[in-house]
Amino acid sequence: MASDAPAVETTIEATQPAPTPGEKDTRPKQWADGPFPLIATPRFSGEDKTCPFTTAASHMALVHNVLLRTLNSIYLQAPRVPANEHLDFIHYSLVWSALIHAHHHGEEAQFFPGVEEAAGVPGLMTGNVDQHHLFTPGIKVYESYLQSCITTPGGFSGDKLCEIIDGFATTLQQHLADEIQTILKLREYGDKIPILKLIEEEGKKVMGEIPKTSVLMLLTVNLEKNFEGGIHNDFPPASGVVRMLMRFVWPIPKRKWWKFASCGWDGKRRELKYAPLVEA
Ligand SMILES: [Fe+2]
Repeated sequence: MASDAPAVETTIEATQPAPTPGEKDTRPKQWADGPFPLIATPRFSGEDKTCPFTTAASHMALVHNVLLRTLNSIYLQAPRVPANEHLDFIHYSLVWSALIHAHHHGEEAQFFPGVEEAAGVPGLMTGNVDQHHLFTPGIKVYESYLQSCITTPGGFSGDKLCEIIDGFATTLQQHLADEIQTILKLREYGDKIPILKLIEEEGKKVMGEIPKTSVLMLLTVNLEKNFEGGIHNDFPPASGVVRMLMRFVWPIPKRKWWKFASCGWDGKRRELKYAPLVEA
């Protein structure tokens, strides 16, 4: 697939001197809020907080930011993961594409048709589905490459993976941002579209169907609870039992994969294990 995005420079220097042998390296590293930037939620950026379309669009932005944070964690670390951890990293990276497929399948199978039916406008959300088709081939290349590396992890190249991501990331990022505006524009239909009910029902269905020990865990460790000052820290809603399972049971089977994540189990951002240094 032809690349539609410039390669992002990840080999950079910091002004703080490198540590001497045996000394801890305290130089700041890049975090997962770039190179593909996160999306400000409408709730944070001044939209009417009492409007259900603001809430729905904000929840969508939070999910999209999980996708972006995870993609950033993959892109930044891929060239620096040591060979003996390649297999874990390959699996971590494949869970990201499983999450994006689950998210877009839920939209196409339930959320978008629900919106169109409520508005009485067939095809109202077609533009969003068309955008899905623009980056899906690039994600298929990404998956094929990673799948091929599972059997021969010694052949894995982080630079090659970044090159593949460069081929679809700009298109994907544009879509993730555009969809927030699409939801806000649905305001013109007012009460005709029960937007919160539709998005919550779809969210519950997707959360119920995704594999708990992989996809749900990836989402959990890339959802920053303090994002935008912590105003969304009750998202997504989950019962006490589910929260206990998420914290103490479901992380265990694939525990070697989560060391690459952007947040800890407490939802706080943490330094990426193999990220490059912050640019001076
Ligand atoms: Fe979405």
